[in-house]
Amino acid sequence: MATLIIKDLHAKVDDKDILKGVNITIKAGETHAIMGPNGTGKSTLASVIMGHPRYEVTQGSITLDGEDVLEMATDERARAGLFLAMQAPMEVPGVTNSDFLKTAVETRLEEGEHLALFDFIKSYDKALDDLKMASDVPHRYLNDGFSGGEKKRNEILQMKLLKPRIAILDEIDSGLDVDALKIVGDNVSAMQGEDLGLLMITHYQRILEYINADIIHVMMQGRIVKTGDQSLMKKIDAQGYDWLKEELGIDDERVIVEDKEPVFLNPSKKEAL
Ligand SMILES: Nc1ncnc2c1ncn2[C@@H]1O[C@H](COP(=O)(O)OP(=O)(O)OP(=O)(O)O)[C@@H](O)[C@H]1O
Ligand SMILES: [Mg+2]
Repeated sequence: MATLIIKDLHAKVDDKDILKGVNITIKAGETHAIMGPNGTGKSTLASVIMGHPRYEVTQGSITLDGEDVLEMATDERARAGLFLAMQAPMEVPGVTNSDFLKTAVETRLEEGEHLALFDFIKSYDKALDDLKMASDVPHRYLNDGFSGGEKKRNEILQMKLLKPRIAILDEIDSGLDVDALKIVGDNVSAMQGEDLGLLMITHYQRILEYINADIIHVMMQGRIVKTGDQSLMKKIDAQGYDWLKEELGIDDERVIVEDKEPVFLNPSKKEAL
């Protein structure tokens, strides 16, 4: 069974330190949720787990069943069973959804295995149906011109066909109308089980109505500052983060705190202060 272990993970982008010591272990069968104010490093953590080339890991480790994930290229990570539903999925004009997905599914096959096209189409159609997506989706370009909610459904559609062992869902609930939230939530919850480890990044407790999470983490300043059960999420939903910042003695929860003097385009303005 899959186990993803992240230890003391530090990462930077353009010389800015963003992740500053993340520790988290996700096992198959578990569902974790990460909450946290904007700009605290949640999506960066997701990108680093998948190997986005802009982020440089400067310290710490990520292993999947003991294998060094940081040594793997992004496609190898996908083949190993990692999956990321992005907060803002990319549009790729020129590549159809079905070609993209077919290639992605083929890439995950073992050597010597071949994709049975009929089975692929059948499961694609079933997934479209489960997610109540339009039947022309396979022939349209990847996410091109898709509404925000359609893009989110399309991420879950990919997850359904790729059957990852560890999935990270970055704000899969944001931008969805109430009906879509139920559809997406029900589809994800149907995949929960002992073969899947799930990490959901979310701002709202509402998603718990559909997807049960066992362990709730809060991220601030590029690290996990608190871990608890669902009552932690409920408290944040009702009261925000101020109580927690006070408890932890955190003044500014963001990851990059500008400590430079403000730049004045007109120096006389500075004098006036
Ligand atoms: N590629 C990048 N280039 C420059 N800055 C970046 C990059 N990626 C992340 N950052 C910065 O790192 C900080 C954390 O960003 P991140 O997207 O991880 O936050 P988040 O916790 O996901 O926030 P939100 O809840 O708003 O999605 C932000 O200040 C962001 O601007
Ligand atoms: Mg984010």
